[in-house]
Amino acid sequence: MTAEALLEVRGLGIAVADGRGAAEGAGSPPAAREAGSPPERAHRPLVRDLSFSVAPGERVGLIGESGSGKSLSSLAIQGLLPAGLEASGSVRLAGVETVGAPDARLRPLRGPVAGMVFQEPMTALDPLMRVGRQVGEPLRRHLGLRGAELARSVAEVLAEVRLEDPRLARAYPHELSGGQRQRVAIAVAIAARPRLLIADEPTTALDVTVQSEILDLLDRLVAERGTGLLFISHDLAVVSRMTDRVHVLRGGACVEEGPVDAILREPRDPYTAQLVAHARALDAALDGDGPRGPRGDGTGARGSDGAVGPLAEADTDEGER
Ligand SMILES: Nc1ncnc2c1ncn2[C@@H]1O[C@H](COP(=O)(O)OP(=O)(O)OP(=O)(O)O)[C@@H](O)[C@H]1O
Ligand SMILES: [Mg+2]
Repeated sequence: MTAEALLEVRGLGIAVADGRGAAEGAGSPPAAREAGSPPERAHRPLVRDLSFSVAPGERVGLIGESGSGKSLSSLAIQGLLPAGLEASGSVRLAGVETVGAPDARLRPLRGPVAGMVFQEPMTALDPLMRVGRQVGEPLRRHLGLRGAELARSVAEVLAEVRLEDPRLARAYPHELSGGQRQRVAIAVAIAARPRLLIADEPTTALDVTVQSEILDLLDRLVAERGTGLLFISHDLAVVSRMTDRVHVLRGGACVEEGPVDAILREPRDPYTAQLVAHARALDAALDGDGPRGPRGDGTGARGSDGAVGPLAEADTDEGER
């Protein structure tokens, strides 16, 4: 897109490294794929021809049902695909091509350029390392901080995610609540002041009240810092609250893209329409008062003005603003 894009994904493909891709679903053993599927299906990639960009300060969403390729796409951006999977096409992160790049070129990008928050904080954190040390790691590695300066910065980052109690820095992850753990994972992701934050279902594992607090926190952090946000979720209410523009994935391909309000109000693709209808039906069922319209405008308090989906009620929480 433009010269200033922070992230530019062009024609991203992801396939099993032997070129087969997923035939019966990626979980099926190679033998089953061999025997059961015609060659053209066996070569179907897991993600194909995906293109999108994120400018500094922009908020972009990837939505789609389970298995549509959201997580793999986000992992491919930083060259973090699991062993056995291969990316093709082009991903430029702050101008650096990451597809096919050696790890030595990608490592300096992870932290200062792109930070990542995952769905399940326990998998992102080291269970045997105190919280303060984990938050300090990117500060040591990327900013070169040591000693008292490091300790002060760790306390500052923890305060930014509203973990002010100094005892928390000395705690181990299992000693914290789920919401506190996700705050720590966010602290680790933002410590080196990344220009892009990638959040892959960051609240799905949390209960609804805590979800709302964490979304408020992410919302505030990216707004204050002008961070670009790539936000991944299957929950349309959450996506409408957090992003301005979305790309809808199905079966590894983008079926629709556009401003989040327009897509929720008037989905053009039948699959998107189905996702929206489903979210409205769920919302109505939880509310007991019928379906609602999408978010009214792109400027007001996010999510409190009629977002579809189960979180619409919880969105009125102003706790962290
Ligand atoms: N290591 C792997 N090897 C082979 N196939 C994989 C691997 N990891 C994921 N897949 C397959 O790739 C497809 C996309 O997976 P991905 O995890 O990106 O989905 P997702 O959209 O994030 O789903 P969810 O909403 O459940 O998190 C799925 O069919 C999945 O089974
Ligand atoms: Mg996923």
